[in-house]
Amino acid sequence: MRQPLVVGNWKMNGRLGEAEELARAIAGAEVDWEHVSSGICPPFPLIDRVASAVQDSPVAWGAQNLHQEDSGAFTGEVAGPLLKDLGCTYVIVGHSERRDYFGESNELVAEKFFAAKRNGLIPILCVGETEAERDAGKAGEVVREQVQAVLGDGKEDVFRDAVIAYEPVWAIGTGRTATPEQAQEMHALIRGLVKEAYPITGQSLKILYGGSMKAASAPELMAQEDIDGGLIGGASLKADEFIGILRAAVASDL
Ligand code: PGA
Repeated sequence: MRQPLVVGNWKMNGRLGEAEELARAIAGAEVDWEHVSSGICPPFPLIDRVASAVQDSPVAWGAQNLHQEDSGAFTGEVAGPLLKDLGCTYVIVGHSERRDYFGESNELVAEKFFAAKRNGLIPILCVGETEAERDAGKAGEVVREQVQAVLGDGKEDVFRDAVIAYEPVWAIGTGRTATPEQAQEMHALIRGLVKEAYPITGQSLKILYGGSMKAASAPELMAQEDIDGGLIGGASLKADEFIGILRAAVASDL
């Protein structure tokens, strides 16, 4: 019942020419688009180019971050209304690189999540533990807190029209993918938390896995009950790899 979703997070990669070429290759790929949704999140200045390259295809586009306010004197920042003008469907919030290198707290990430929703964007909320937290047996606790920061008092159905990505920090960009069992355990925990507050939303919520997912590792991960696709970093910069992951998602839906 949950159609898989595969989103490319290009991070701080891509130049004008190659971005269009990569986006076109993905948009034109032979993929059974009836069985997978997809999006590309390039750096801000490339959004318009990527949009032009994929606009006649089923591939959507989005951003990697946004400011929590809708406008104002915030030099260097980008706000939700502009992303909406650019036709973005998705915006990633709380990526571990933002949390770690730019000091984004659970509270700030929650504000960004609501800024996205207020502007009609689908937030992709990233959560995940560090290696030290996992080793200390705290993975569940950390991820629970990250989800809870957005869920708040549970009075609002905040995860409707939202996506969560479980991205163990130790698996991001390291080539060390979580095992399907490790990922499934955390995905089930996340779904359980949302279901407790809102059973229908919890059931329909797409929870993506992110962290060194490749075309080769995608089938096993996506075969897991609560894994509904991927948030792809490194492998989203190579058309063949990304298309391979899209096909694995299709196969998991059949
Ligand atoms: P990776 O990145 O696929 O390169 O590990 C995933 C992410 O950070 O979203």
